[in-house]
Amino acid sequence: MLAELACFEQKCGASFPITETIYNCPQCGGLLEARFTEDCVDALPLKKLWRDRRTSNQVLDQSGVWRYRELLPFDGHHHQAVSLREGNTPLLDAARAAEYGGLDRLTFKHQGFNPTGSFKDNGMTCGVTQAVRLGRQRVACVSTGNTSASMAAYASAAGLDPIVFIPRGNISYGKLAQALEYGARTLQIDANFDQILALVRSLADVAGIYLLNSINPFRIEGQKSIIFELLDQRDWNPPDWIVLPGGNLGNTSAFGKALRELRRFGFIAKMPRLAVIQAEGSAPFYEFMRTRGEFRSVPEPRTLATAIRIGDPVSWPKALYEITESNGVVEKVSEQEIADAKAIIGRCGIGCEPASAATLAGIRKLIGSSIIRADEDVVAILTGNVLKDPDYIYQYHTGQLKDPEGRPIESHFGNQPVIVPNDAGAIAKILER
Ligand code: F0G
Repeated sequence: MLAELACFEQKCGASFPITETIYNCPQCGGLLEARFTEDCVDALPLKKLWRDRRTSNQVLDQSGVWRYRELLPFDGHHHQAVSLREGNTPLLDAARAAEYGGLDRLTFKHQGFNPTGSFKDNGMTCGVTQAVRLGRQRVACVSTGNTSASMAAYASAAGLDPIVFIPRGNISYGKLAQALEYGARTLQIDANFDQILALVRSLADVAGIYLLNSINPFRIEGQKSIIFELLDQRDWNPPDWIVLPGGNLGNTSAFGKALRELRRFGFIAKMPRLAVIQAEGSAPFYEFMRTRGEFRSVPEPRTLATAIRIGDPVSWPKALYEITESNGVVEKVSEQEIADAKAIIGRCGIGCEPASAATLAGIRKLIGSSIIRADEDVVAILTGNVLKDPDYIYQYHTGQLKDPEGRPIESHFGNQPVIVPNDAGAIAKILER
């Protein structure tokens, strides 16, 4: 559909051509979003078309993002799409996690099944496609891990030059390895995510960089497809709740926008409620929603869940709007709660990285405070793959994990590896226990 870039601030209302390279409103500094300028969507035939595309061998149809291209702002530019067959992530029932959380039933949508291992691929395919559409060669992002791996892969697939900025020492090896392997120029800086993002934003014009952090509205557009696919997989029956971790709040913004568009165009009649979960030491949005005062960033965010170690989330105004529109809630959870929930998700045979596990920890808390009811229909989004933070996993299971303050995290669901002698009889005896 035809679209423009519109200022998210209601009182500003400025709009700009979709091909302008801007990340904030040039008039008021507000966030930007892609907004459709036409209203010609017919839900029923589109539902059928999208379902039929699942059996197609065409690249765009096979992508779990571009399959839904009618609701993406790339009209006439689909031939430029850069796809690694992202999306197509499963809905997984998890009885043990449901029981732990206090629910009758719980479904995970696992974005860790994406090509580079996280939901970032849903957004990056669109962000990099926009870079190609604009004729940009040099793309960059700041990242605590997943964004860098995703951007490096998609940029290299498109023949662009990726530059990755990372907080030195605060990125998982697996993710750093991906960025290097996919050929990104990788710059490590002694500063945290928020500080580096401010630095790179000021550098973007000077260094001819197209910025691919989630402030880029096309990333948000791609991440809408997580919701499109989720509802398509449920035959367009919305759950009562969609639970997700919150860091920079790009996903919260994308999910809310997707749901509003689906309601506006008649795909769904009911809005699920969004529940955003933050880590206790990195919870500026939670505090803001609790007090409803001024938005205060957390200067030194702390959590082992590095993906959500973000103290100054750029998308908070959008997230506020989406939480309000969906009658949503924001909760925070401790390091211990995240670690235990993560082990339980592992025991379901599913597994995820630490930030993703905040969802189950949050559900347990929201059940405890009767905000979510046990019989409600809940989908939690696992944002990243279990292999993201292997050190964390090993330390948890061997009782060595410590929170950022150096306090031990108890391994309530630990699974220690055991050293045994090279002796069948002795091993058989051990296995009897
Ligand atoms: N989960 C995972 C696995 C992530 O990688 C991120 C963000 C989030 C959740 C938070 O999502 O920002 O949309 O609220 N990771 C960024 C990165 C910071 O650099 O990869 P959000």
